Amino acid sequence: MQAVVFSAMGQAMQCIERPELVPGAGQAIVQLQAAGLNRRDYWITQGKYPNIQTPTVLGSDGTGTVTQVGTDVSPSWLGRRVILYPGLDWGPNPAAQGPLFRVLGMPDDGTFATSVQVPIESLFDKPTHLSWQEAAALPLAGVTAYRALIVQGEVRAGQSVLITGIGGGVATFALQFAVAAGAEVWVTSSSTRKIQHAVSLGARDGFDYRRDGWDRELLERCGPMDLVIDSAGGSGYRNLIRIAAPGGRLVSYGSTAGRPAEFDLFKVFWKQLKVIGSTMGSPDDFAAMLDMVRHYQIHPVVDQVFSLDDAATAVAHMADSPQFGKLVLNCRI
Ligand SMILES: NC(=O)c1ccc[n+]([C@@H]2O[C@H](COP(=O)([O-])OP(=O)(O)OC[C@H]3O[C@@H](n4cnc5c(N)ncnc54)[C@H](OP(=O)(O)O)[C@@H]3O)[C@@H](O)[C@H]2O)c1
Repeated sequence: MQAVVFSAMGQAMQCIERPELVPGAGQAIVQLQAAGLNRRDYWITQGKYPNIQTPTVLGSDGTGTVTQVGTDVSPSWLGRRVILYPGLDWGPNPAAQGPLFRVLGMPDDGTFATSVQVPIESLFDKPTHLSWQEAAALPLAGVTAYRALIVQGEVRAGQSVLITGIGGGVATFALQFAVAAGAEVWVTSSSTRKIQHAVSLGARDGFDYRRDGWDRELLERCGPMDLVIDSAGGSGYRNLIRIAAPGGRLVSYGSTAGRPAEFDLFKVFWKQLKVIGSTMGSPDDFAAMLDMVRHYQIHPVVDQVFSLDDAATAVAHMADSPQFGKLVLNCRI
């Protein structure tokens, strides 16, 4: 098999030959058709992720065909077209992951390869309306968006929702899911082109978060937001508290722009706000997300497809976030 190995900090990832995988008890080998990229892969190559271990194969998102299973696993899995749950060992508590939880692709070898070894619990039937590349784009970003918006954010039809940094992979899914749920969605972005793309997916309009006063303009034009979905944090977080409606919810799943420079606790309690954290999602969230994608026939937005041996270029491509939606690797060589 071929795998893209990240051998040490500061060294470029390389696609190399590796011994074929053998399934252990409770495991399956999936011959991958495509793998999706996430910001996490970029953070790891930059040394900006906790507990980095090398050598490792990155990649949390994958889709393909089951080719081998452990002796204790039903052979009915063989030949099935699957999409992989991107976490491992979520644990028993639906409210939060347990201490053994980890993301596929460091420390466990991930999907930037021609095949991957996963526990049988990671296998879910691939939605048939999706191409391999679309399916590869879905797992981590899709389940993160689903949990942030639906499980933690409890979005309802008719509610006003702001999704920040709409060019992001998770943000794009949050937009598609919120529109499907009947919400009225506004977005922020550093790019007019990305705002226009978001409008074509059902957003009402968008605002440039780099411009002073965008929050006041939003309040004047759209009124306060029932729900804000954010992955930036940073100095702009104070604007989000300002634009949240009384009794509104602010869900954070990332902090791309760093810690909030200020946190106006007075506004939080006076406006009766709910400030909520969200990380990825449980296997049940993943199954519910797949049901939603099937029900509304949602197609992930794939920005660009790279070959497996070009994985290092694809990961580096995320540095300035030119993409709208997801970057994908073609794993067939
Ligand atoms: N907790 C979790 O489980 C989880 C899961 C997935 C991701 N995350 C985190 O969430 C963040 C986004 O992940 P992703 O995979 O969606 O990343 P991505 O696809 O690389 O998205 C990056 C986007 O962030 C937006 N952005 C950058 N600076 C911003 C700012 N100051 N204000 C608002 N938006 C800003 C940009 O949007 P525009 O291009 O539109 O300006 C950019 O396109 C990352 O920090 C990631 O580590 C967390």
